[in-house]
Formats: sequence, structure tokens, C-alpha cells
Amino acid sequence: MELIQLIVAAIWFILPAYVANATPVVLGGGKPIDGGHTFIDGRPIFGPGKTIRGFISGLAAGFVLGVLQGLATGQLHLYSALGFLLALGALVGDLLGSFIKRRVNLERGSAAPVLDQLSFVVLALLFASLVSVPSWEIILIILIITPPIHLATNFIGHKLKLKDRPY
Ligand code: CTP
Ligand code: MG
Repeated sequence: MELIQLIVAAIWFILPAYVANATPVVLGGGKPIDGGHTFIDGRPIFGPGKTIRGFISGLAAGFVLGVLQGLATGQLHLYSALGFLLALGALVGDLLGSFIKRRVNLERGSAAPVLDQLSFVVLALLFASLVSVPSWEIILIILIITPPIHLATNFIGHKLKLKDRPY
């Protein structure tokens, strides 16, 4: 495959994870998943940036996109399962990232390079591997293109006043 085709295939595969990661910025808020509780170190478990509404809306949006991909390709079962797993993995990965940030005393909204841009996509790939493992080229491309795409969309989200911080 040509590089450009590989990049398109990589984005097509991982898109539900991107949608699941971005949706909470718009639809999130309200009650935090950790209920405001602290961990044994006295710091927040995940912090107030991880909300129930964000998690559910992200999961729903990623799943709906997977269903649409399935309808578009005539592979409804595969893509709806992938949409669900990629979205769930992305949201769990994002939570894991926040959990780690709180453990090293980084406050909510602080920048954790690599962790902020990759934890969601790594867990999304891991969860998706239950039904489909992309080729190593596709995985590599996803890992390379995700950080700049994540940074660019966050910057745009900040310009649109959806996000406090530009990263
Ligand atoms: N968000 C949410 N629920 C989630 C994930 C995200 O409501 N499960 C919303 C929050 O408003 C959050 C915003 O999306 O502030 C941006 O997400 P993210 O950058 O992941 O969170 P941060 O606020 O930076 O918090 P953290 O330091 O824990 O990453
Ligand atoms: Mg952040």
C-alpha cells in the first residue's frame, strides 16, 4: 500500500477513539467519575476533569460512529463492535492517564506530554484487539499521527472556547 493509503486506513480504523476522546470536551461536565473521592495518597483518584457525562457521551458517540462505518462498509457487526471497544478503550485510557497524573501530583488540566496524547489511543488499540488487530504499519502510523492530531484539535478547541487550555 502507498503511504497515503496507509494513513487514510489508519485514521479510518482509529476514528471512533478520536471521537470518543473529543466528545467529552463538548458534552462533558457535571458529576466526576471518582465522586470527588481521594486515593490513599490523599490526592484525587481521577480529578474533576473526568465526568460521568463525558464518559457516557464519548462512549455513545464512538459507538454511533462505528455503527455508521459498519453501515457504510456492509460490515455492521465488525465495525459496531470496533466502535464500542475503541471508544471504551479510549475513555479508560484517558482515565488511566489522569490517574497517573494525579499520582505524580499533576493537577487537573496540567500538561503531561506523551501521556495526554497517547494513553487513550494505546488502550483503544488494546481493547479493539479483542476483535481486530490492524497490521503493524497501521499501528505504527496511528502512534505517530495521533500526538500531532491531538495537539491540533485541542488547539482548535481552545480557539473555539471549548477548552480552557490550548493542549
Ligand atoms: N471531560 C469529561 N469527562 C471525561 C473526559 C473529559 O467531562 N471522561 C471533559 C472535561 O471538561 C475536561 C475536558 O473534557 O476538562 C478535557 O479533557 P482532558 O484534557 O482529558 O482533561 P483535563 O481537564 O486536562 O484533566 P486531566 O489533567 O485529568 O487530564
Ligand atoms: Mg488535558
